[in-house]
Amino acid sequence: MPTYRADLQAIPKYSPGKPIAEVSRELGITNIAKLASNESPTEPFPEVVDAISAAATDVNRYPENSGYYLVNALAERHGVDPLQVWLGAGSTQLLGCIALSVGGPGTSALYARPSFVMYAIASLVAGTEPIEVPLDEDWRHDLDAMHAAVRDDTTAVYVCNPNNPTGTYRSAADVAAFIDAVPDHVLVVVDEAYHDYVTAADYATTLPIASERENVVVTRTFSKIYGLAGLRIGYAIGNSDTIAKLKTTQPPFSASSIAQVAALESLAHDEQLTERVDANTAGRLQLEDGLTERGIEYAPSQANFVAMMADESADAADRLLKEGVIVRPMGPIIRVTVGTEDENRRFLRALDAVGVTS
Ligand SMILES: Cc1ncc(COP(=O)(O)O)c(C=O)c1O
Repeated sequence: MPTYRADLQAIPKYSPGKPIAEVSRELGITNIAKLASNESPTEPFPEVVDAISAAATDVNRYPENSGYYLVNALAERHGVDPLQVWLGAGSTQLLGCIALSVGGPGTSALYARPSFVMYAIASLVAGTEPIEVPLDEDWRHDLDAMHAAVRDDTTAVYVCNPNNPTGTYRSAADVAAFIDAVPDHVLVVVDEAYHDYVTAADYATTLPIASERENVVVTRTFSKIYGLAGLRIGYAIGNSDTIAKLKTTQPPFSASSIAQVAALESLAHDEQLTERVDANTAGRLQLEDGLTERGIEYAPSQANFVAMMADESADAADRLLKEGVIVRPMGPIIRVTVGTEDENRRFLRALDAVGVTS
């Protein structure tokens, strides 16, 4: 038997949402609504699909490692220097590289609970001690408690804004004050995977702060609103020296050539992006109204999913699955992704059919 590192067993496994094909095979049903992985219910923009097809014949060559065109487009979009932009195979990869670059034995990393599970996994893979700080009573990051939990050996703090799995957010002013309060030796990673969906007036991106300060980076992804989850492409923005250091732990050629082309083309269609934001806002309201009508408690969401309290959530999710609706049970909650209008209606009807309560 090979010799494994002693703490390998202690690293939790990422559990992905069940694929549609698997559910279809196992239950013998078609017409499945997958509302489990916070994906876009719609395909990439048509122009992006065309760009992907056109790029297919170039895959005998390695991608441009610098990601020149996409990096420059993102730099221009966000008003930063190209050296401040870092591409990766999804923001998950960037989070992993960040954890490896600033962590390791003898360090600790802080994040909220519940929040995106990759902060825990990336920290443990790096050999970093995780410190979990419960959300406040409104299911938001408890930034005061997180600040109080920072230790001398803390090297990373993850702020998921809006938060997965609750969809709750902290205002621009709250995040800025938190960053000011955190000591400079701590890297603050603001994960803005769901940034595009936010409609709250007091929310703002942390990008302007990240582009100025050495100890702040923002991560973003093309997996959500742009519908490129299958291609694996995300980016981070920060101070150029910080980005150069963080890149050290990243394997070469992480952003594939097709992913780069698809992301670049995606940036050229802001009018379609706006339509998607509007559709998500309407769908989120449809779900929230439906839950209110049914007397089910949920967290007010600013993302493309809603977290609801559910008695025996794993069992409830199983019953919903048999109705052809895939959702994600997580502890005492079920997280449901905003789907198409029809999928959202199916989910609400399935709740009635299987009798989910909170
Ligand atoms: C908060 C958060 N960050 C990052 C990601 C990962 O995105 P990517 O597909 O870019 O790796 C997700 C995906 O679910 C997420 O919920």
